[in-house]
Amino acid sequence: MSQRDHWGSRLGFVLAAAGSAVGLGNLWKFPYIAWNNDGGAFVYVYLVCIAVIGLPLMMAEIMIGRRAQTSPVPAYGQLGFPKWAFVGWIGVAAGVIILAFYVVIAGWSISSFYNCLRWSFSGYHNDVDFGAFVGSGSTQISLSLVFLFITAIIVSRGVSKGIEKATKIMMPVLFAILLYLVINSGFLDGFGKAFTFLLRPNFGEFFAHPHGILEALGHAFFTLSLGMGAMVTYGSYMSKGESITRSAIAIVVLDTVIALTACVIMYSIIFSVPELQERLRGGGMSTSSMLFVTLPEMFYTKVPGGVFVGPIFYILVGFAALTSTISLLEVVTALLVDKLNIPRTKATFSAAGGIGVLTIGAALSLGASEFLTNMKLFGPLEWLNHKITADKAGVLAILDHVSANWFLPVGGFLFAIFVGWVFKKKDAVEELELQNADGSPSFWFNAWYFAVKVICPLVIGYIIFKVLKGADFS
Ligand code: TRP
Repeated sequence: MSQRDHWGSRLGFVLAAAGSAVGLGNLWKFPYIAWNNDGGAFVYVYLVCIAVIGLPLMMAEIMIGRRAQTSPVPAYGQLGFPKWAFVGWIGVAAGVIILAFYVVIAGWSISSFYNCLRWSFSGYHNDVDFGAFVGSGSTQISLSLVFLFITAIIVSRGVSKGIEKATKIMMPVLFAILLYLVINSGFLDGFGKAFTFLLRPNFGEFFAHPHGILEALGHAFFTLSLGMGAMVTYGSYMSKGESITRSAIAIVVLDTVIALTACVIMYSIIFSVPELQERLRGGGMSTSSMLFVTLPEMFYTKVPGGVFVGPIFYILVGFAALTSTISLLEVVTALLVDKLNIPRTKATFSAAGGIGVLTIGAALSLGASEFLTNMKLFGPLEWLNHKITADKAGVLAILDHVSANWFLPVGGFLFAIFVGWVFKKKDAVEELELQNADGSPSFWFNAWYFAVKVICPLVIGYIIFKVLKGADFS
């Protein structure tokens, strides 16, 4: 086999991995779960989850990838534990499932961008019926498949010439756009209130109904792209001799700062428009309508400079989603390349083709096909539908539910058990390079090891237990 491709630089790796982490989860999901949990204490709890569960698992995934220098399924065999390959398979299945529905939502950024351009040039009219838009089969299929195709083109070009090159352009653009948007929010009346809402220590209220803790945990997984081997895959293209710890910290910090920035941008608008707060307090902030319906309306009616902010905002959403879909497709592609030894282009387009079929199902499940919109995973088996899919109906909702509630937590749990209890401690010390001068594990190694060995399995095990009892993260 030819020489394995590697990242051209540490910055390239960090940007690609941060690109994977920063996605719809940051711009779409975090702002609304933080809003619905009343900000403040929820945000602090989330930060603790990121530090205690997210960062250690991020380091563990990168470490296993770099040690094995191969994708998640063969990695376990490569390290001498072939029986654990099934954990890699769970991850690949999760990747297929997430990518299949993620591109449907990502595709909306294309049409929103187009609408905003239209409005910027010829004036705003509230002329988009969101229900009709998502219910149009041909529109949803075209947008999502275009997004999948763009992803495949980048992935097919390889790690350093495709993924790294594309993320090195997209991520700086994304930072610049966010900076512009935050500065712009600084001119809104709600800016200060947005900060207060995010950072006030309302622990008393929060811990009276601490259901938000589980949501914070579940989201920590999703937003950092953990639990399915995406970071194992990216880590496998990392060269020896670069610090895993420093890279992982950079990725986690970038992801967190961007999620909080997205909140500041959106909440500044919400707190500047009293009617909007009423609307959101009443019904809670619903997922898609905030990002794709309410925000564009606000841009053109309430936000100064909205004619620029509108289109630019959806470039941000599109780029953030694209750097994430790239990592999802790379997990499946890398497996085909490493396991079947087929050329990358063929591997990429076969993977995308297969996933595309599922995507069509998801695209038609928002109203276009009555059957796909109302179907239950286990058909008439009520009990299983209830237990496993929380009675979700429709392809997209089911895929979202099973990935966030089952595949990622179970994958993450088994992975933590593997690294904490099966993988040799000595090898971990060596790979993470966290030794004292005499070669013994350093304090930080021990802290990391305790988190992966004890805290992660307990906490993730608890999430799985709650899911079994009916909790829902999607
Ligand atoms: N982290 C991404 C987001 O926040 C989603 C994502 C990309 C993902 N790759 C993943 C989630 C791998 C889990 C696993 O939008």
